[in-house]
Amino acid sequence: MCGIVGYIGTQAATDILLAGLEKLEYRGYDSAGIATIWEGEVNCVRAKGKLHNLRSKLEQIESPAQIGIGHTRWATHGKPEEYNAHPHLDTAKRVAVVQNGIIENYRELREELKGKGHQFLSETDTEVIPHLIAEFLKNLSPSSSSSPFLEAIRQAVNHLKGAFAIAVISADFPDELIVVRQQAPLVIGFGQGELFCASDTPAIVAYTRAVLPLENGEIARLTPLGVEIYDFAGDRLKKQPRLLNFNPALVEKQGFKHFMLKEIHEQPGVVRASLDAYFNNFGESSESPINLGLPADLYNNLEQIQIVACGTSWHAALIGKYLIEQLAGISTQVHYASEYRYAPSPVTANTLIIGVTQSGETADTLAALAMEKERRQGKEPQYQGQLLGITNRSESSLGDMVPNIISTLAGIEIGVAATKTFTAQLMAFYALALDLAARRQTVSKDTLEKIINGLRQIPKEIEATLETQERLTEQLAHEFAETKDFIFVGRGINFPIALEGALKLKEISYIHAEGYPAGEMKHGPIALLDAKVPVVAIAIPGSVYEKVISNAQEAKARDSRLIGVTPVNDGEAAEIFNDLLPVSDVEELLSPILTVVPLQLLAYHIAARRGLDVDQPRNLAKSVTVE
Ligand code: G6P
Repeated sequence: MCGIVGYIGTQAATDILLAGLEKLEYRGYDSAGIATIWEGEVNCVRAKGKLHNLRSKLEQIESPAQIGIGHTRWATHGKPEEYNAHPHLDTAKRVAVVQNGIIENYRELREELKGKGHQFLSETDTEVIPHLIAEFLKNLSPSSSSSPFLEAIRQAVNHLKGAFAIAVISADFPDELIVVRQQAPLVIGFGQGELFCASDTPAIVAYTRAVLPLENGEIARLTPLGVEIYDFAGDRLKKQPRLLNFNPALVEKQGFKHFMLKEIHEQPGVVRASLDAYFNNFGESSESPINLGLPADLYNNLEQIQIVACGTSWHAALIGKYLIEQLAGISTQVHYASEYRYAPSPVTANTLIIGVTQSGETADTLAALAMEKERRQGKEPQYQGQLLGITNRSESSLGDMVPNIISTLAGIEIGVAATKTFTAQLMAFYALALDLAARRQTVSKDTLEKIINGLRQIPKEIEATLETQERLTEQLAHEFAETKDFIFVGRGINFPIALEGALKLKEISYIHAEGYPAGEMKHGPIALLDAKVPVVAIAIPGSVYEKVISNAQEAKARDSRLIGVTPVNDGEAAEIFNDLLPVSDVEELLSPILTVVPLQLLAYHIAARRGLDVDQPRNLAKSVTVE
């Protein structure tokens, strides 16, 4: 949700800013812009739409600037037009600002500033910031501070309400790049005689691995002499950079046409990495063969679990609920974080609250967790509840907020539609549910061993699925590229996979798709069915196979074309399903990690066939840092 970058050093700033923005485009691509300083002026170039539009504009400009800021936007306040694109400037065009987040009190501030003669050119909340900084700069006496620019920004941010990260430069202070973090991510990179800042590390890893993530309420002043960090009261803080462990191959396509396709193919590796990290070998004397590195008191006297999440993470949480309830016998509820914030469940004793967010930055999930934390404070110990985060970015805001984290091991995901991070979240839930079950002794040692051994087979089963499904899903994509509506059905542990399959298709191919529990079709949605509406049914032998088959028959009787995701290839399956997307025959409990793969591929190939921008679908952003 909006990406910001900044550079100060000795190289051409424009090239570095553009390269950084390219790595951040997953955060938004409604418009892009950069501002640099040269010949005593702020030079601001902005373009509507994707980064290549900005790049074309910049090709005509030879810029010697060695300091600058850049932005890629996901529109919140104001249409995705050039006049709303960042950077935004003050009236005198001396101060330039890029922002990721939302300034909640921007209306009042704008009216106040207008009254003082400031002229506004956009509909954005961000534009108040350069004006506010200019206003404070005007009122500062030159000798009142060693860095008037820093002081003016400090005063300005103390007037801002909301969650934001900003980067600021000024033509009057050409050797200073100032960045602020308040509940939106921002990291500083240390190079040789140069400094970087960005919303996320992929924007700077090509230049340096020495990074310092800012914390909430911190301001950093980047100059040719180094970095100084202050709190909002102006007190200097001492901080040290740390070395980033980062695999640059993850941010390259490596021969795949799209990041999404590459990330789908990375899933066997993600499962292997999760198995290595979470599962010990049997025979060790520990209480549980699972090692999540969580404190023992997190598990004590647990009676209930509440999970908050959004989007694909919410689907992973639904599977988590199934696993935790069926294996460990703990009552678990899953909530959309955006809903839970305004209608939380009553505070109950011995409750574990889990936030699931691959980015660790989703505003609704963070706010729901913060609310839970607050309303449990001061209560008797059993009502306080423990907080647990499941995230792919442990260095994120979630990591700062929640003391206990299960890190998912997907590596960075660039495609906006989540694929391998979903699989990684499922692995975290298998580990958590089995760990709880082992400690509470709700399943026998043999069963536990059987499930873990089954999980160990999953990587090669995904590989086999990928091999057969590439061609099959591509063929189906050819036939369904112009289809208007799709229905996905599943039951039990595969119902959330039906939801996820439908979401993938909606997100990247813009085809209307719905996921339903197969048994619910007859209570309404079946009215939608006819020959033009294909139904994808996930039918895995186990507790609900026959039921799903019956529900599929009901759809077929309404002329729907039926696509079966199933390991069964007998006469009955061949008769019912018009098309088969075969998956390996694994335990029903483990099947979601496999059944999701053909659905990801189907969505991918349909979108690719339709010629759509698979990695950057319209209107979406990978990390949604606004409410
Ligand atoms: C956005 C993304 C989705 C993602 C959701 C939750 O909407 O486009 O792919 O599932 O946010 O993100 P999180 O980072 O919290 O898992």
